[in-house]
Amino acid sequence: MADVAKLILEGKEHELPIVTGSMGEKSVDITDLRAKTGYVTLDSGFGNTGAAESKITFIDGDKGILRYRGYPIEVLAEKSNFVETAYLLINGKLPTKTELDSFNTNMVRHSLIHEDMLRLFEGYPSSAHPMAILASMVCSLSSFYPDFLDVHNPEHVNNIVYRLLSKIRTIAAFSYKKSIGQPIMYPRNDLDYCSNFMYMMFAVPSEKYEVPEEFIKALDLLLILHADHEFNCSTSTVRMVGSSDANLFASSAAGICALWGAKHGGANQEVINMLKEIDKNGGDVDKAVAMAKDKDSNFRLFGFGHRIYKNYDPRAKVIKAACDNMLNKINRKDPLLEIARRLEDKALADPYFVERKLYPNVDFYSGIMYRAMGIPNDMFTVMFALGRMPGWIAHWMEMHQNKERIGRPRQIYQGKIQENYVPISDRG
Ligand code: ACO
Repeated sequence: MADVAKLILEGKEHELPIVTGSMGEKSVDITDLRAKTGYVTLDSGFGNTGAAESKITFIDGDKGILRYRGYPIEVLAEKSNFVETAYLLINGKLPTKTELDSFNTNMVRHSLIHEDMLRLFEGYPSSAHPMAILASMVCSLSSFYPDFLDVHNPEHVNNIVYRLLSKIRTIAAFSYKKSIGQPIMYPRNDLDYCSNFMYMMFAVPSEKYEVPEEFIKALDLLLILHADHEFNCSTSTVRMVGSSDANLFASSAAGICALWGAKHGGANQEVINMLKEIDKNGGDVDKAVAMAKDKDSNFRLFGFGHRIYKNYDPRAKVIKAACDNMLNKINRKDPLLEIARRLEDKALADPYFVERKLYPNVDFYSGIMYRAMGIPNDMFTVMFALGRMPGWIAHWMEMHQNKERIGRPRQIYQGKIQENYVPISDRG
């Protein structure tokens, strides 16, 4: 197998090293290309650019394979839990019982947020989108922990990791309580990660609340499935922001903002809006598919398509089955599930979607599960952020361990050559 690629530019041959990944993926290392030839590469949306070498998550988009640290997602979904999966992503190996207990205890201990932060919640209008609150609150955490902000000090980083994983849950639940005008419920450290979140979301001081077992299982599964997805838009953002030595709170807040968009994590909210709209219009899925194919409309079938997967998203497969299972167990019928199924069948049989290899992605069925659990539509992307936090942390840490350079892409300038400044009085 060749270990160099040969590139001919202006009649001159240049050799570029080939770097092969542990799963056989081949890349041409162009780090020195500009220095040697004066050329840079052009790759809109970084669709064909390996931004770094990574050991965290493997995806084979053609075969529909997803593995965290070598473990297939289906196995983790069946056998692991979110806290253990978070440990795996962050530490690179499955924990022993002692390691897991200590990781868990550290997270449990840091579930409260500073009382002064509560005043920040008061400043938001009740109509504020919880993603706006989440991003700014996570960034604000850096102002409450000025003693842990040395990004090169492992002890500082460790302290932030526990706080982030734990407090993001508290912030998310408090932002929901704020939006519905209910009193906040302080975390209960006797509850496990998911139960504690559900308690903070749905308990009220005036009543006893018991977290339904089916919901805890479903939430845990959804968080595992969202925990990492290699160099997607939000994770690349976290790595990019972190590469300037911005602290982990600030870098994660940037990731939350990137996740919010409808082409990324925000799609889960849009899927439900789309299904509701179809339901309102008599359940006509043909119209939605026709609109998605119409290049003059901006409409896309939300929850469909993926930059990497050209096959069924393995996460969507697990979620679809879990969704059926949960709704059966709680004896709930959701008309949106029936529409989603018909929409999927219709799209998968349509040449437009077949030719472009567009399949349901992680966001297609997750919203139906969240709805059944009583989680409102505009909290869906917040749920995604909760799940993705271990992945963001793992990538931020790896980027530092690899001593990566500051992220700084090049451009191909296509603007004006040089203009003469004309005083405003002389402009036509
Ligand atoms: N509905 C209709 N057409 C689609 C869809 C869709 N959901 N997705 C892609 N296409 C079409 C594009 O219009 C394009 O068609 P063309 O070749 O005729 O121009 C072709 O398929 C390729 O799509 P791109 O946009 O070039 O693919 P890209 O990799 O840039 O985008 C993305 C991937 C953003 C996920 C896209 O499929 C999309 O917008 N999907 C809907 C939003 C969504 O569900 N996002 C969540 C993704 S998962 C996640 O981030 C957690």
